[in-house]
Amino acid sequence: MKQLKILFVCLGNICRSPAAEAIMKHLVEKEGLSDRILCDSAGTSNYHIGESPDRRMQAAAKKRGIQVEGKARQIEPFDLEYYDLILAMDKSNYYDILALDPARKYKDKVKLICDFATTFDDKEVPDPYYGGEAGFNYVLDLLLDACNGLLAYCKKLLADS
Ligand code: 4NP
Repeated sequence: MKQLKILFVCLGNICRSPAAEAIMKHLVEKEGLSDRILCDSAGTSNYHIGESPDRRMQAAAKKRGIQVEGKARQIEPFDLEYYDLILAMDKSNYYDILALDPARKYKDKVKLICDFATTFDDKEVPDPYYGGEAGFNYVLDLLLDACNGLLAYCKKLLADS
C-alpha cells in the first residue's frame, strides 16, 4: 500500500469531522507524510451541505495554530469503496455509514475514531454543536489524542505494505 486515504465522518460535517481532518493533516504534515496519507471529511446528513466549518470550531482550532477548512458534503456509497479508512465520530455516525453498505463489503474499513485514543477513554466524540466554547476545546483535545494514535496506526500500515 503506497498511500492511505482517510475519511472522517460526523453528522453535519461542520464541527467534528472537519476538525479531525485538519488535525490529522497537521500531524501528517509534521511527519512529512502528506503524499502518503490523504485526508477528507463528510457528514452523514444533508443539513449543512456547501457550508464552511462552524465559526466556533474554526476559532477554537485557530488558537492552536490549526486551520479548519472545506465545504460540508454528505457521505455517499462510493466513499466506502474509495477510502481505505473511514472514521466515525460517534456510534450513530458509525451505523449510518454501515447502512450505506448493506452487503457489509467494506465493514472493516469503518471504525470509531475514539478506538485510537490513548489518553482519553471516551468511546465517542461528543457533539459540540449545541454547547459552548469548552465543548469545542474538549473535542479538539480528544481528537488530537485520537489522531496521534491513528497516525501511529497508519505508519504501521504503510510500513507493512
Ligand atoms: P458535527 O456537529 O456533526 O460535528 O458537524 C453538528 C452540526 C450540526 C448539527 C448537529 C451536529 N445540526 O443538528 O444541525
